[in-house]
Amino acid sequence: TWTMANIVEEQVERIRSEVGDKQVLCALSGGVDSMVAAALVQRAIGDQLTCVFVDGGLLRAGEVEQVERDFVAHTKTDLKVVDAQDQFLSELAGVTDPEAKRKIIGREYIRCFEAAAREVVASAESDSGHTVEFLVQGTLYPDVVESGGGEGAANIKSHHNVGGLPDDLQFRLIEPLRTLFKDEVRKVGEQLGLPPEMVWRHPFPGPGLAIRIVGEVTRERLDLLRQADLITREETTAAGLDRDIWQFPVVLLADVRSVGVQGDGRSYGHPIVLRPVSSEDAMTADWSRLPYEVLEKISTRITNEVAEVNRVVLDITSKPPGTIEWE
Ligand code: XMP
Repeated sequence: TWTMANIVEEQVERIRSEVGDKQVLCALSGGVDSMVAAALVQRAIGDQLTCVFVDGGLLRAGEVEQVERDFVAHTKTDLKVVDAQDQFLSELAGVTDPEAKRKIIGREYIRCFEAAAREVVASAESDSGHTVEFLVQGTLYPDVVESGGGEGAANIKSHHNVGGLPDDLQFRLIEPLRTLFKDEVRKVGEQLGLPPEMVWRHPFPGPGLAIRIVGEVTRERLDLLRQADLITREETTAAGLDRDIWQFPVVLLADVRSVGVQGDGRSYGHPIVLRPVSSEDAMTADWSRLPYEVLEKISTRITNEVAEVNRVVLDITSKPPGTIEWE
């Protein structure tokens, strides 16, 4: 932690001297990276920072509350929440292609963020007289490499970050985590006093649960997936496995049905795919060898408790050739 303390101190100094008396904006995604980046900037410049959180309805159970309540309680950050669930869902209606989903989510995200940013900019200028010149991003080293920023990297999937803002709303970027890997980011978060549930939260993709539903994204399917995902998390946490697993996507095959027998009769429901992986940095991954008893519990609970799901399957593909997410 001596090194982490140094990294924090060094970044705090750099951010302070770069920002001066200007205002700073940060987009919180709900993930570890943006929360740690924001907490670091908050440590450096206090209430010169305003965070914006766009809720597109694609997060897992309890995650919106964790940002709105716990993050604010721990950092005292000024947070603006945008409820954009209806907007995201109506734009996603009828869309099944993974890249199309990503593009729509990226675009709607920018739209919402832009509107919120304009409000923050206007009120900062009238309240403090200082302009909003900077935008914080929780970019990590692997993001830099995988999105084509590093040497010899290919663009595998379009990862969406905040870019694409209009010309009159451009900011200078502050990316305090740009040289770090995930495990280092977690240590920085711990160093900053963020609670373990936040710091040890598994990585989660920007497009959220939308890319864990194979097929069209609807409110009902999101609710099903949220239930299955919550059961999975409860059982892995109860078994003490969270820190052995890098990430545990739970995927709903909404366009697939299979025959089952449930209760007194035949069922014709959807499969849920469990995709637990171990990894160092998400660039490569291996499927996690979870204990059979844990898998059994998850499977029994999901088929008993989640309506319309009658089958649970385990993904045993490494990356490569499979990516971690299904879309
Ligand atoms: P894949 O599926 O490409 O994922 O093996 C590698 C890591 O990136 C996450 N991921 C994303 N993160 N925006 C993000 O911020 C995205 O569009 C996106 N797509 C995948 C994925 O969860 C894994 O950690």
